[in-house]
Amino acid sequence: MQEIKFYNGENIPLELHKVRVVQKLHLVPIERRLEALYEGGFNTFRLSTKDVFLDMLTDSGTNAMSDNQMAAMMQADDAYAGSQSFVRLQKAVEDVLGKKYLLPAHQGRAAENIITNAYVRKGSLIPMNYHFTTTMAHITQYGGKIVELLYDEAYKLNSDHPFKGNMNIEKLEEVIKVHGAKNIPFIRMEASTNLIGGQPFSIQNLRDVRAIADKYGIRLVLDASLLGENAYLVLKREKEFQNSSLGEIIKTMTDTADIVYFSARKLSSSRGGGICTNDITIYRDLEALVPLFEGFLTYGGISVREIEAMAVGLYETLDETVICQSPSFIEYLVNALDKNGVPVVKPAGVLGAHVNAMEICSHIPQSQYPAGALAAALFLISGVRGMERGSVSNQRDEYGNETYADMELVRLAIPRRVFTLSQIKYVEDRMTWLYNNRELIGGLRFVYEPPVLRFFMGGLEPVNDWPEKLMAKFKEDFGESL
Ligand code: F0G
Repeated sequence: MQEIKFYNGENIPLELHKVRVVQKLHLVPIERRLEALYEGGFNTFRLSTKDVFLDMLTDSGTNAMSDNQMAAMMQADDAYAGSQSFVRLQKAVEDVLGKKYLLPAHQGRAAENIITNAYVRKGSLIPMNYHFTTTMAHITQYGGKIVELLYDEAYKLNSDHPFKGNMNIEKLEEVIKVHGAKNIPFIRMEASTNLIGGQPFSIQNLRDVRAIADKYGIRLVLDASLLGENAYLVLKREKEFQNSSLGEIIKTMTDTADIVYFSARKLSSSRGGGICTNDITIYRDLEALVPLFEGFLTYGGISVREIEAMAVGLYETLDETVICQSPSFIEYLVNALDKNGVPVVKPAGVLGAHVNAMEICSHIPQSQYPAGALAAALFLISGVRGMERGSVSNQRDEYGNETYADMELVRLAIPRRVFTLSQIKYVEDRMTWLYNNRELIGGLRFVYEPPVLRFFMGGLEPVNDWPEKLMAKFKEDFGESL
């Protein structure tokens, strides 16, 4: 593992890349940010980037691409069928993920649509370590249900457990016995479990899940969208693998799964997605659905230029200097916030720093969406756009009742190689100020609630004039500073 020590003893995540293409940012005055919030229904998805300073909404499609990825895009083969770009991607998938059959899909959720369409029926139950929003939406659309099987430790936000994404093996076996293996088309394991704070599973746990899957003859599906980072944390935290390469760790993980699918928007710092397997029967089950929903089998709705970038990006996943960058900045921010008393998800995971809104906004009931309120308040006072990962992101149950999330988090995504350390320090500074003024944050209520994936386009409003009061306090403390 590569580590660089500083003479003065400070623990600084040193960038091992240089910046060669830049994009100008805009930090607009707080009055404009308040207007933008009202225009965007207090939903950070609906903000325009012209009002956003640091875009920490997601790492999806926003990781910085490398010079080699950009160069590869120029050699794309624009054929409808039989494109050489696809051949290069197939080779990369086989080399990196160890699977010979590849089905392209335009992004991760499209891969989920194909897998659930093929295997999920009314009465199906899908055990998983934890759901992702789009995964759950697809499974319920096709009449299935999910069951989440984490250990209790995973729900403890302030923890030092290295693998909170582990699946509870005892519960898994119990669920299979109760529901019957025939009603369980697959078990799903999500690498770097997104919604609990980007927390990894261990390879030992994955092997244990595989053993149960074998015992009952159930397929194992691996969501590999955040596989590189999970592999990096295995390297750092799982003793058996401390001398392994990222490539060996990745292959060990993908080897255990019958189906591996991914959002290339995350995994390979490009845009696209895919499903891969070594099982020809599975390939045949899914094959016909790709041209139906996505596009022909050698592009699957992805631009061939992006396919070239995906292929190179997959190989770059094996480079520790690429993969360590986001987790090490996240660790830096989490530790800094923690030191300042701001409640954050610990240990630091991947994808972003996750701030605990349930604790920060303990005065706001879950029915008034504390995480949504905190995300809006942070944007107001800093121009930093995070993402609500709490009850707004949950879906109503089959009877239309509100379901409250286990955790109310605001995710501050740190895409690979996008931000500088001074920008991370700005986030630390503003988030700490907000924490110290947290009693000024108030609740939200829906004014427009779409029936599916409501968090994307839903509109909310503040329950009273708390945003104006928060702005007044900001101006009192920061004067004319942006
Ligand atoms: N699975 C996981 C674990 C994800 O994090 C995502 C997307 C998907 C599947 C769906 O992939 O967006 O390409 O359709 N996560 C993004 C995020 C949206 O912001 O965390 P997609």
